[in-house]
Amino acid sequence: MKALVLAGGRGTRLRPLTHTSAKQLVPVANKPVLYYGLEAIRDAGITCVGIITGDTGAEVREAVGDGSKFGLDVTYIPQEAPLGLAHCVLIAQEFLAGDPFVMYLGDNFLLGGISDLVDAFCHGGYDAQVLLTRVTEPQFYGVAELGPTGEIIGLQEKPVHPRSDMAIVGVYSFSPAIHEAVRAIAPSARGELEITDAIQWLIGNGYSVHSHMVSGYWKDTGRLQDLLECNRMILETIAPDNRGTVDGLSEITGRVVIEPGAVVENSVLRGPIVVGADAKIQSSYVGPFTSIGPRCVVQDAEVEYSIVLDDSSVHGVSRLAHSLIGRNVEVSRAEGAPNTYGLMVGDHSRIQVRA
Ligand code: DAU
Repeated sequence: MKALVLAGGRGTRLRPLTHTSAKQLVPVANKPVLYYGLEAIRDAGITCVGIITGDTGAEVREAVGDGSKFGLDVTYIPQEAPLGLAHCVLIAQEFLAGDPFVMYLGDNFLLGGISDLVDAFCHGGYDAQVLLTRVTEPQFYGVAELGPTGEIIGLQEKPVHPRSDMAIVGVYSFSPAIHEAVRAIAPSARGELEITDAIQWLIGNGYSVHSHMVSGYWKDTGRLQDLLECNRMILETIAPDNRGTVDGLSEITGRVVIEPGAVVENSVLRGPIVVGADAKIQSSYVGPFTSIGPRCVVQDAEVEYSIVLDDSSVHGVSRLAHSLIGRNVEVSRAEGAPNTYGLMVGDHSRIQVRA
């Protein structure tokens, strides 16, 4: 069994962060979301992994290397443009070499791993295994319509009028039959070779397509609220660990991880929180479900339910919440008159202020 991890594509919904960096490398609890997927693959006993990369390939290669730090043997498969999930299978055919494989979308997060799912597929003898879960906004996902005995009778990709609330989760298992399917289908209206069409082709041509309901927690981290929610879920599971320096004037409650070199002075930290290596929290409040990246500075400020990436600073601002702050960003209080906001913001950014 091999794994094909999709880390190309465009992160349009997390712009401006993903103008410059891979959406699969956005950190959740200070660890890139892609790492959770690679660890889940390794824990399922798979070592041979192909990673599809796009424009951000160099960054993905730098972060993952040859895979040995995860116990994996990684082969990179560059994709010339994001031509669809089924296109990824098409260009990975040589790497996959007729082996069954798990296809893992690099921005998906599945709490509890994939070992049971891989076992179910291996023992079931299916040509495809599709994971499903109920969602409240099925129009943003691939959607499956089930027959009376739970079999998939139809699949739609991001339908305007979904026929069910069963979303397709981004972890699929395939036998080599999928290669015939991806060659047989044509690009969709949005110009992509859709994996949903390839699976529909398998169903229409008499192959066995098994669906499996995901009972655990799953998120596609491609949207801000899902990324923050995923951050919350991971932080819920952390064990407190202080490897930094906390002064006697600070108050720390709940599960708080302070990484080496981080300094906390005269502050209130209410977990679950992770404070990255060499970060500084001074005269501030950091509230639940917040990840502060390495080398960040939070000073005379309040932050909660947020992700702040490496090397950013928040000065004199209260209270920042439900926020995703990129790398090397400065958020600070404006001094003196006039009473204005001063912004220098990238394309496709989103700012909410209390007037
Ligand atoms: O997250 C689950 C959903 O993932 C499914 O419900 C949908 O059926 C499926 O099409 C997919 O939808 P998304 O809109 O979330 O796909 P996205 O374009 O975000 O791509 C998923 C991952 O695959 C992401 O890490 C980028 C990568 N990718 C995507 C495309 C289109 C590639 O590497 N190459 C590509 O050509």
